[in-house]
Amino acid sequence: MHKVTIENHKNMQESFSLIIFGATGNLAQLKLIPALYDLVEANLLPEKMSIIGIGRKELSHEEFRAYSNDVLHKPNRHHQHPIKDEVAKNLLDRMLYVSGDIAQRELYDKLANLTKENESCSNRMFYLATYPELYPTVFNHLQESGLNNQDCGYVRVIVEKPIGSDLPSAQKLNQLLASYYKEDQIFRLDHYLGRETLQNLLTFRFANNLFEPLINKDNIDHIQITAAEDFGIGMRGGYYDSVGALKDVGQNHILQMIALATMEAPKSFDNLSVTNKRTELLKQLVPETDRLIFGQYEGYLNEKDVAKDSKNDTFFAFRTQINNERFKGVPIYVRAGKLLPRMVTEIAIVFKNEAKHLFSNVVGGDDPNMLIYRIQPNEGIVFRFSSKIPGPEFKIQNEYMQYCYKHTAATLPDPYLRLLNDALRGDQTFFVDAEEVEAQWQFIDPLIAERKELFSYKPGSWGPEQANEIIEKDGRKWIEPSIGFCSF
Ligand SMILES: NC(=O)c1ccc[n+]([C@@H]2O[C@H](COP(=O)([O-])OP(=O)(O)OC[C@H]3O[C@@H](n4cnc5c(N)ncnc54)[C@H](OP(=O)(O)O)[C@@H]3O)[C@@H](O)[C@H]2O)c1
Repeated sequence: MHKVTIENHKNMQESFSLIIFGATGNLAQLKLIPALYDLVEANLLPEKMSIIGIGRKELSHEEFRAYSNDVLHKPNRHHQHPIKDEVAKNLLDRMLYVSGDIAQRELYDKLANLTKENESCSNRMFYLATYPELYPTVFNHLQESGLNNQDCGYVRVIVEKPIGSDLPSAQKLNQLLASYYKEDQIFRLDHYLGRETLQNLLTFRFANNLFEPLINKDNIDHIQITAAEDFGIGMRGGYYDSVGALKDVGQNHILQMIALATMEAPKSFDNLSVTNKRTELLKQLVPETDRLIFGQYEGYLNEKDVAKDSKNDTFFAFRTQINNERFKGVPIYVRAGKLLPRMVTEIAIVFKNEAKHLFSNVVGGDDPNMLIYRIQPNEGIVFRFSSKIPGPEFKIQNEYMQYCYKHTAATLPDPYLRLLNDALRGDQTFFVDAEEVEAQWQFIDPLIAERKELFSYKPGSWGPEQANEIIEKDGRKWIEPSIGFCSF
């Protein structure tokens, strides 16, 4: 095998290895390799950093580089800007590869030799872009082969969602992690926490004093969250049919959106304060098992790698409430699923409109104000208000004040760029800690336990009709997300 030696250097703080378990998989192709390219382009990678890929495929270092170069040039809807040769070369020159079975000690000895060969002393970050059932064996082998040793440079580990499949399994994984690493070495990644639009939600709330004083039960009627995808499960049947929509996106992305939109202000903008406030909020969420439905799109059972009698959800809708003084009695309605009419994720804060006001008898004068955080597409923050229609008659219509990103999802910095950079710098603010992930499962498990009945829905509809009852019982309606605003 062709050997590559990265220039030795004295300062161990500068020397760094990112070791990706599962470097030939889907996640590495779609997200990690493109994000590493972006980090090189933005000059954010430590100068003396090597990237070591691991997979079962027999590849030389050169072949892994050629493979990674192909990955960068393949069409990728998450990464659409042109690839510059000099940036790609800078990235590829850092790349090494070790082939072998993750379950076998031999692989770790090869890895230890390679890291020693390149650096006598190096910081190491292990990225687990492979199957969760392999984690125990990975941690064990890393320990036994001395690769977890921090005598000479720090060790960090990045673990992808899903963290467990319910509360007991998440607790077990957290205990396993804790038996090898300290919490400040563990980076549990939910890429939603790295989204620009969600991080901006915190800025919008806590760097401005305009709306924040109104975000409470005295002024808010209810909150709605829609997370709709206009495509089905594609080739991901094997994975998707083992989890379903609520576990795939509800347990993590949706709960993080609720937390960011409603958590109390942290004392300061640092890891512990922000994470603690998210966790505090998650613990206050009340699972309402009588306001919950699950759906499955027609045709799901014929999808590749899906069990013919699958009782798996591709849609869910529920109501929840926050058990604290600030939000007591304010319902939060959530709906999410696949093969819905269009791709849209948004949080709508609907303000109260009870008082008879000056124009409540005028045509169009009775609609509530809304503050909408549009996560995707047409990313932005929008305020809906009533405005007089120009003309001789006194009529009112809804208008929108909007802040729109000039970027689209494809050109906004990818969450993986942000999160990899944070992990490199040791910043865990936008990573999920052990207590937080357990609070998420504490909320989700009782809902999953109710997944006894599935309602089917037509592809292209807004889910099963029964989803309407969840909100209509309270005299409210689902808001059809607007395509009008922030589209240029
Ligand atoms: N794909 C996504 O967009 C996505 C998003 C969020 C989270 N995740 C999570 O990320 C993880 C990886 O997902 P994925 O979609 O990338 O899976 P994948 O495409 O099946 O890739 C799995 C990777 O693991 C390697 N691997 C598997 N068994 C191995 C073994 N015994 N020894 C050595 N290497 C082994 C494979 O290498 P070979 O190909 O050489 O066998 C491959 O590189 C999962 O936990 C998933 O839940 C994925």
